Amino acid sequence: MRYGYGDELMSKDKVGVAVAGLGFVGRQAHVSAFRKIPDAELVAVIDVIEEAAKEVSSKYKIKYYLDHKEALKNPDIDALVVAVPTPFHYDLVSEALSNGKHVLCEMPLTPNVAESEKLGEMAEKAGVMLMPDLNFRFTPNYVKAKELIDELTIGKPIAFTFTEFIPAKDLAKQWPSGSWAWNKEKSGGYPDFTLSVWSIDLIRWLFNSEIVDVSWMPNYAQLPGLNYTGYNTVGIVKLSNDAVGTLYFSASVSPGEGTSKLEVFGDNTRAIKATWNNHLALIDESMKAEWEFKMRGTKVWGHYQIDSYFVDCIKYGKKPSVTVDDAIKAQTVAKKIVE
Ligand SMILES: NC(=O)c1ccc[n+]([C@@H]2O[C@H](COP(=O)([O-])OP(=O)(O)OC[C@H]3O[C@@H](n4cnc5c(N)ncnc54)[C@H](O)[C@@H]3O)[C@@H](O)[C@H]2O)c1
Repeated sequence: MRYGYGDELMSKDKVGVAVAGLGFVGRQAHVSAFRKIPDAELVAVIDVIEEAAKEVSSKYKIKYYLDHKEALKNPDIDALVVAVPTPFHYDLVSEALSNGKHVLCEMPLTPNVAESEKLGEMAEKAGVMLMPDLNFRFTPNYVKAKELIDELTIGKPIAFTFTEFIPAKDLAKQWPSGSWAWNKEKSGGYPDFTLSVWSIDLIRWLFNSEIVDVSWMPNYAQLPGLNYTGYNTVGIVKLSNDAVGTLYFSASVSPGEGTSKLEVFGDNTRAIKATWNNHLALIDESMKAEWEFKMRGTKVWGHYQIDSYFVDCIKYGKKPSVTVDDAIKAQTVAKKIVE
């Protein structure tokens, strides 16, 4: 299958993009990235809050819309980036696809697997691209980790640990109690569900294997000092290549305890350790190699890179390596937290 608009789009210098949702991810990550991607033109932004839409529109001298349906009529918009809360993804994505627009959609694609599958079928039928925003595949130190694993630097990867601790104070600010992310019907689970999908996909991608079994133990504790509920959710995972590992997500710690850490262990006794997004170490008894990645802004967690890749796939008619199927697999594993 060939994506893109064929000859018509090839003759266009830049892919016209609109970003819907100007919250944490839409504005900080995608608006900033698309403004700097040479083959993209940020044509418009969309948000139901006029103040937010107007502010970004006047800052960058671009159009703004309060209703995505109006934006979808604009022929200069070739692609829509959906960064609204998860409960609204289905409507925005399905309408964009039926208007012939390509879509980059934030994760999780929808609150339930059946809706995500339906969107995948709609994109196929419409002959346009629906790419899930699985940006950990583009994060600098994880890209290097993948390269080392594929070169068999650690032999066969046999085990892993992934730890992501978010300061409770930060999460309470982004997704307060009562917000969509804490509503199981609206978001598909709680914040641990929403925030687990990127690392679940990361493990599948790094190990080139499927997650065949997972056992989750979530704990939701009241944090009286913050008047907020924190989570500590641990998953024990088995992969199709026999590897095992743990995923540990927490949002009950102080800012000093915030961390993101991945360790992958190989059968030649070497290990790879990725810390945050910018540091990687290869460890064995006789040597320690280290990489420091000095990316800044939207390149830090790979948003700029996945946004550029999305534009490239549209402009050059490439079939994307990040698919709806990947999104569904991550969502299916994450969903078991609440089942
Ligand atoms: N890729 C990542 O690193 C990452 C990280 C966190 C969250 N996310 C995902 O991004 C999405 C958005 O999360 P967020 O934390 O930025 O949300 P948010 O609540 O901070 O912001 C959402 C924005 O969308 C606007 N909005 C709501 N409904 C709308 C509609 N129908 N049309 C247009 N605008 C609308 C809101 O006014 C708000 O400005 C979620 O799906 C979330 O899971 C991605």
